[in-house]
Amino acid sequence: MINAISFDANQNRNDADKIGSNTSSANRIMSRCDQLQKISSRKETYFRAYLTPEHRQAADKIMRWMRAAGMLARMDPAGNVVGRYEGVNPGAPAVVLASHFDTVRDAGRYDGVLEILTAIECIAAIRDRRRRFPFALEVYGFADEEGARFSISFIGSRAMAGLLKDQDLAKTDIDGITLAEALQNFGLSSTRIFEAARQSDEMLAYFELHIEQGPRLQSESLSVGAVTGIQGQTFATCTFKGRAGHAGTVPMDLRRDGLLGSAEAVLAIEKIASKEADIVATVGRITVEPGAANVIPGRVIFSIDLRSPSNSRRNLAWWKIRESLEAIARRRRLTVEFIPIMSQDPVSCDPRLTDMVAEACGEVTGRAFRMMSGAGHDAEIMASLCPMAMIFVRCKNGISHHPDEAVISADVTDGYRTLLLTIDKFAAAL
Ligand code: GLV
Ligand code: MN
Ligand code: MN
Repeated sequence: MINAISFDANQNRNDADKIGSNTSSANRIMSRCDQLQKISSRKETYFRAYLTPEHRQAADKIMRWMRAAGMLARMDPAGNVVGRYEGVNPGAPAVVLASHFDTVRDAGRYDGVLEILTAIECIAAIRDRRRRFPFALEVYGFADEEGARFSISFIGSRAMAGLLKDQDLAKTDIDGITLAEALQNFGLSSTRIFEAARQSDEMLAYFELHIEQGPRLQSESLSVGAVTGIQGQTFATCTFKGRAGHAGTVPMDLRRDGLLGSAEAVLAIEKIASKEADIVATVGRITVEPGAANVIPGRVIFSIDLRSPSNSRRNLAWWKIRESLEAIARRRRLTVEFIPIMSQDPVSCDPRLTDMVAEACGEVTGRAFRMMSGAGHDAEIMASLCPMAMIFVRCKNGISHHPDEAVISADVTDGYRTLLLTIDKFAAAL
């Protein structure tokens, strides 16, 4: 299967620049992704959530690799792992290379960790060449990006960027454990988590390499590309409430079935998103209460994830969805309630850093390809702290958030070379 894209991967290879062109780096990066994939809370599927024993185990492993690459490594008060490779002068501001090492449920093995492991490999190469820059290099592994446990995402990078709020600590997981309690149980502190925050003057730039998670690079026959920005996202829950009742006795015309309203709502959301330009919308989670086969569903709660590169289009689609769902609720004698969880504006990558990334991509593949990110990334949070840019690496058929997520070694080599070249370009431009 992977062979299906290996031809394309080789097609664009440019051997003019030999930096990092050996395949052993890519093999080590990929084998480490495999090792992390074994640290899962489930036997059959890959899942690693924030503040769990698996979080601790993966963090310990990543810190060992950081130390082996010549970095000082620590866990910060949010549970992120941080490796630091000093520059010419100790204590200098840093260029940060980062992504996350938590996963979604039933995850693929490259989302997030590919950057952390590629960055560690870059630092090892820089250390082996005895190079020091006028800046430090820091590798962050953010402990929560996906939001799989507390239904709020980016806890790791928001803590680092100083954007975590007091009220976030009251968020609960599926067992009713608050973020504050989970931090204590993990051996961290709910008051000290705010000390994970870094200041802008400590950071010069942020670079994140990530699998593309979409099909664009594959269709362009390119292994890597430069990201121009990340689309905006509205994340909310919606509750349809009717009346639970006996499945055998309540006549159809007297029912107020929360699930039937929700079913109509989910299809209405699809219709609105399909009609509007530059909009995608997903209902990915639904809870039916009381959840018994012989009881009419009284209450149904589902998630809405709405994204667009344009704020005005996203806002318009959101209001159309609300209006349409309110009309469905009225017609079915249900109540409907929306709870907004997150609204993130689209974020542009820094043009100067993106030029560097694009140039590096051009040197590696022969084409300086630029594209927008459909997925969310820690980089969008980091943009509040320092200029940021991103490198995308092709993944097989654009599949991600799925166990079939795959990359080929040649593309990982290209990603690694692009990241190394970008660091060089950044240093040269200082
Ligand atoms: C992060 O993976 C996202 O949902 O875009
Ligand atoms: Mn993800
Ligand atoms: Mn990711």
